[in-house]
Amino acid sequence: MAAPKDVIWERDPHTAAKHALLRRYLQAWAPIMLSRDEVVTYAEGFAGPGVYRGGEPGSPLVAHQVFSGALRRSPRMVKMVLVEENARRKTELEHRIAATSGSSGARNDRLDVHIAQGQCHPDLLQQLARVGSLDHPMFVLLDGFGGPEVPFPLLQRIATQRRSEVMVTFQPSFLVRFAGKDERHRAAGDAFFGGNDWHGVFQEPSSSKAAYLRDRYRESLGRAGFQHTLVFEMIDEAGHLLYLIFGTRHERGVEKMKEAMWVVDTTSGVRYRDPKDPNQQALDLELEPDTGPLRRILLDHLRSAPAARSVDHLKRYALLETIYRPTQVIPLLKRMRDDGDVNVSPGRITGTSTIAALRQGALF
Ligand SMILES: C[S@@+](CC[C@H](N)C(=O)[O-])C[C@H]1O[C@@H](n2cnc3c(N)ncnc32)[C@H](O)[C@@H]1O
Repeated sequence: MAAPKDVIWERDPHTAAKHALLRRYLQAWAPIMLSRDEVVTYAEGFAGPGVYRGGEPGSPLVAHQVFSGALRRSPRMVKMVLVEENARRKTELEHRIAATSGSSGARNDRLDVHIAQGQCHPDLLQQLARVGSLDHPMFVLLDGFGGPEVPFPLLQRIATQRRSEVMVTFQPSFLVRFAGKDERHRAAGDAFFGGNDWHGVFQEPSSSKAAYLRDRYRESLGRAGFQHTLVFEMIDEAGHLLYLIFGTRHERGVEKMKEAMWVVDTTSGVRYRDPKDPNQQALDLELEPDTGPLRRILLDHLRSAPAARSVDHLKRYALLETIYRPTQVIPLLKRMRDDGDVNVSPGRITGTSTIAALRQGALF
């Protein structure tokens, strides 16, 4: 989106979907982390003013509401570290947090909020160090206007705390349009990706440039230490493509983020597209989800394997390598068996059954 000039601005539909996703995920993340750790931290490097023109809460307020609730059921401590460069937005955010803390019994001495005016980098790390958060698990939202604005060393530093997770906003069109011609923009891209592997985008056809950058950025997150990534594709009001990319080391984090993502209303500007789908089909996550891409992905995977794969292997593959959930695998395999796409041994599908792809037409 174009960066707004006013202190607050209209919330667009994809932002509403992003907040719904964040709320769902933090509702799952907070109790898990608070059951294991004395202190957990929620941080933002591009915090915003905390409110939208229609009065809707910004992401720091969404997080504050979730943690206030979680702390009613836990004796532990949550720190919030919020950095915003714009002085007036930072002041607005302070007022909003103060108003929320003072209302509805949400005041809690174990919810310790630090708001600073500054640059996402290096100020966020300095603030996290100052309040003693860097040695504890953090969930860090880096939700700028899409930039690229997040330097790779910031991700690396966050990843040194092994239970920490990040979520980064990235709008590929800026690099696609400007970085080929302008050295400064190319340097900003190198700082974002942590290297120049992404320069291959200049040789890609227009239709695949965005997906190419998405995949290079997932690799960057992997190099930083977040070996599992999930990508949410959002379309803003002006039709711009925006990626929200989640990185974690933990399968449980992937599982919980997927649960959140499959219940967020996708009528509102968020699309999912599985990076592994050879057809790159955009998906609405409906009650009866379209598992066409998963069918293609599993067939590709089975065909590239030297031997049959167990159902448990395919469920884990779906969890870690696709946007689908493990629970979607068995019902799909049943349909694939009935359609003659795969052979199942023995006939009944359980976790230990093995699955092999049948060549097209092999049944006939
Ligand atoms: C997309 S908005 C954040 C919205 C917020 N995450 C939400 O969902 O409610 C981005 C914010 O980052 C701020 N910003 C832009 N560049 C920044 C930088 N380098 N460091 C810190 N804040 C920055 C902008 O002033 C703006 O308020």
